[in-house]
Amino acid sequence: MHLRRLATHIEVLAPAKINLFLEVLAKRSDGYHELETLLVAVTICDTLLFESHSGDEISLNCRWGRGYSAAELARARQFDAAGEAIFGEIPVGPENLVWRAIARLREAAGVKRGATVWLIKRIPAAAGLGGASTDAAAALLAANEAWKLHWPLHRLVELAAELGSDVPFFLTRGAAVCRGRGEQMEPLGVPRLHLVVVRPPVGLSTPEVFRGCQPASGPVASTGIVAALARGETAAAGKRLRNGLQAAAASLTPWIATLQDEFQRQGLLGHQMSGSGSSYFGLCHTARLARRIAARLGGRRMGAAYAATAAAN
Ligand code: C5P
Repeated sequence: MHLRRLATHIEVLAPAKINLFLEVLAKRSDGYHELETLLVAVTICDTLLFESHSGDEISLNCRWGRGYSAAELARARQFDAAGEAIFGEIPVGPENLVWRAIARLREAAGVKRGATVWLIKRIPAAAGLGGASTDAAAALLAANEAWKLHWPLHRLVELAAELGSDVPFFLTRGAAVCRGRGEQMEPLGVPRLHLVVVRPPVGLSTPEVFRGCQPASGPVASTGIVAALARGETAAAGKRLRNGLQAAAASLTPWIATLQDEFQRQGLLGHQMSGSGSSYFGLCHTARLARRIAARLGGRRMGAAYAATAAAN
């Protein structure tokens, strides 16, 4: 598992996700959109450390992982001002979903203790990679363990869904087709996938992208890509990537079209935006190729480029 009990605290690895498929089916009366989406956890990870204490304060300490801070990237000449835009300040109060996740679980479980949390970030924000959601899910898993609550997964899933549509997925990770507003999960197996992921210097706001999207008039089902993955046919899966939010995101920033052009030239099995953007990913034949393309794109000042693997659970 991704959870380790250390002498004084609990450590949880919190993976990012990408959406291999996302279809917007309808706009709902509660303001959300009905979705069918295929999520896979990837090896770009934050680390969360959770320590319970007898006080009642929830305190959060955040920093970018080594090599990820805007200052370090500027020194390495990898970015100029763009570094600040990608790896900027992280909120540490109730604006951070980790803080809200812990407060909500503490209230629901009637816990009388507080917590100190250290969060080491590597997943860029406003990227469609689920950074805030995975940190919140990691906090729920850590608190459940540290406070010895023994909540079963289905109870944590219910609470996670109140925090955000993607949070339940990160309690189980792996790969899943998610429906409803994203909180209804159907786990599935996928072969090892090699990816290159780029977060451009401009991030996107999820509500804003959803506001500009149009539900599909003739929606495609995820069954085609799910079947290709079940057969281990990565190239066939690459041809069936889909993201119904990409057009709305592309109307908010030119970076989506720029990345699409750039990825088109890289000889990938398929490529598209992840979630509500702004990050963009491509599916590669091999890990080596993914590393090579990530280095090439990173060197062109297109943003933060990562080589990653879809994480087997
Ligand atoms: O659930 P979450 O808090 O992550 O969603 C953020 C925002 O994204 C929502 O307030 C809504 O505007 C939009 N959203 C949506 N349909 C979904 C998921 C999110 O419209 N299925």
